[in-house]
Amino acid sequence: MAELVIVDRDGTEHRVEGRVGVSIMETLRELDYGVAAICGGMCSCATCHVWVDDAWIARLPARQGDEQELIQELTSAKPGSRLSCQVQFTDELSGLRIAIAPDE
Ligand code: FES
Repeated sequence: MAELVIVDRDGTEHRVEGRVGVSIMETLRELDYGVAAICGGMCSCATCHVWVDDAWIARLPARQGDEQELIQELTSAKPGSRLSCQVQFTDELSGLRIAIAPDE
């Protein structure tokens, strides 16, 4: 099982099985404490914003064009900010720790 470690907006940590081969957003949007993902993964809403734990940032592919531009517009952006619809979950990422960013 490939596990995701998710810190919700209240600071509570959850460990869930992540769906491999699809974006992290697909796992997160099924959770009560997850993300809204209102554009459905089209990289246009930023409601799937998460903060990736510092130890994991370099292990993910770099942000690309639209993702980078949307994140730069967020007031809650941090170095570990990612749009979870743009990050594919794989077995190699088991244990990935992310926090759900605030709604903007
Ligand atoms: S779901 Fe809209 S940008 Fe990710």
